Amino acid sequence: MPSHRTGDYVGLSLQGKRRWHRHDQIGQIMTITIEEAKSWYEEADEVHSFEHVLRVRAMAERIGTAECADLEIIEAAAFLHDSRGASPSEGGQERKEHHITSAEFAGEVLAEKGWEPERIAAVQHCIRAHRYRHSGERPESLEAQCLFDADKLDVLGAVGAARTIAYAVLAGQPVLSEPSQQFLETGKKEPGEAHSSYHEYLFKLRKVKDQLFTDTGKAIAAERDAFLSEFYERLLAEYRGEC
Ligand SMILES: [Fe+2]
Ligand SMILES: [Fe+2]
Repeated sequence: MPSHRTGDYVGLSLQGKRRWHRHDQIGQIMTITIEEAKSWYEEADEVHSFEHVLRVRAMAERIGTAECADLEIIEAAAFLHDSRGASPSEGGQERKEHHITSAEFAGEVLAEKGWEPERIAAVQHCIRAHRYRHSGERPESLEAQCLFDADKLDVLGAVGAARTIAYAVLAGQPVLSEPSQQFLETGKKEPGEAHSSYHEYLFKLRKVKDQLFTDTGKAIAAERDAFLSEFYERLLAEYRGEC
């Protein structure tokens, strides 16, 4: 009889929910701890920080609970999804492939913890598919769809506004500048035109709500999208001295 049963109750999460950690045959914890996960994000910038990972984990678990998904897969995938090369400072190619390198790293971490190969593969699918655009690995499992939706929701709502502004400032771009008529019509900037956080909202963020997979994620996205569009309408009006 192992000294710890699998599924021993070990403590409380940040939200005060009870958490169960699995143990292997010799009593080692198979679950990723917050301290361990945090160590993978020490180099990350403000936009791709461990705070983003914690928000994605909380949201993915909320969606996963509502959708009756496997929460252990979701938590591991959330902790590991941006663990390698996600920060823009890592360079273009590394960032473009961070879903692949993070999935490979997840395989090493979870194998070390004694996870079963099919459950490691399930986590790796979530991680590779979190960056799905129009090509690449599409989120097929329910858990991958929960992670995808949670990651996208982090660019909407008040958090989305804060992150998008932080991203613009880190890139040396203004919080807000008036987009050219050409940008409004085609999404292409005129020579020398800045890419403000408002440009990013017009170009990308306002389309995000249509990309989600789960009913729960779509409902949250609709509410967050309404807040974000109201925020930018108001910001623009204040910049113009209209209110
Ligand atoms: Fe990512
Ligand atoms: Fe992410």
